[in-house]
Amino acid sequence: MPPAAPANPALPPGTSLPGHIAIIMDGNGRWAQQRGLPRLEGHRRGVETVRTIVDATRELGIRVVTLYAFSVENWKRPQDEVGGLMNLLDFFLKRETDDLIKNKVRLLTIGHTEDLPEVVRKRLASTIKATETFSDYTLVLALNYGARTEIVDAARAYAAAVAAGKEKLNDSSWATFSRYLYTAGLPDPDLIIRTSGETRVSNFLLLQGAYAEYYFAPVLWPDFSRADLVTAITEYSKRERRYGQTGEQVKPVSASAS
Ligand code: FPP
Repeated sequence: MPPAAPANPALPPGTSLPGHIAIIMDGNGRWAQQRGLPRLEGHRRGVETVRTIVDATRELGIRVVTLYAFSVENWKRPQDEVGGLMNLLDFFLKRETDDLIKNKVRLLTIGHTEDLPEVVRKRLASTIKATETFSDYTLVLALNYGARTEIVDAARAYAAAVAAGKEKLNDSSWATFSRYLYTAGLPDPDLIIRTSGETRVSNFLLLQGAYAEYYFAPVLWPDFSRADLVTAITEYSKRERRYGQTGEQVKPVSASAS
């Protein structure tokens, strides 16, 4: 079971806090369409939700948050939507970097960021540099990310390390292989939330999420609130994570003794 959360007025007493929450922020387009607005307006509102949820998770004591902001498949969207998303990313980094520094939040990325526009790459590099010494809280942006691409990249890097004699094929294990994933050094997600009511994982953290709890929120991302986050964590806290063991084996000692 995950560690019990510190006393936190926003959560029911005894709630187990996930160490790492990863979020598939879905539903921006539908949010806009329902209001007769351009899709980009939904993404703009989505950025405001990003701010709310990053603040809320930090205040609740969640140490790592990963946001699926742009997938390898998202390049197939209309050009103006892709361009708009890149502008929003630039806007977000420009607006939030001071607060990330003030709140001691380290920024990381996963994915092929080298394909992003130069202005975004420069801003990412400067925010990552400015926050690199922080260790209490980490915000990971998945940008031009796809889990299958990540797995192929990791397999290639691992094979190269074996060929160079840096790894021994006979010693292969998850512990060694996982060091070649983009997420090396980060804990696996405990809770993966997808908004909008869709129940797909869409090529997101496929290996890291092997033992994650999934929560599908029926709310579109621009409407996802602090209260919805608390509901997701409360639901997570009720789940029994067994990792292949029996329910009896994983029950806390105090519970099985009584
Ligand atoms: C999915 O909704 C959302 C995206 C593809 C992009 C998410 C991006 C943001 C929230 C803004 C930029 C992010 C940061 C971190 C600044 P959708 O458009 O697929 O929604 P739909 O399924 O209703 O069409």
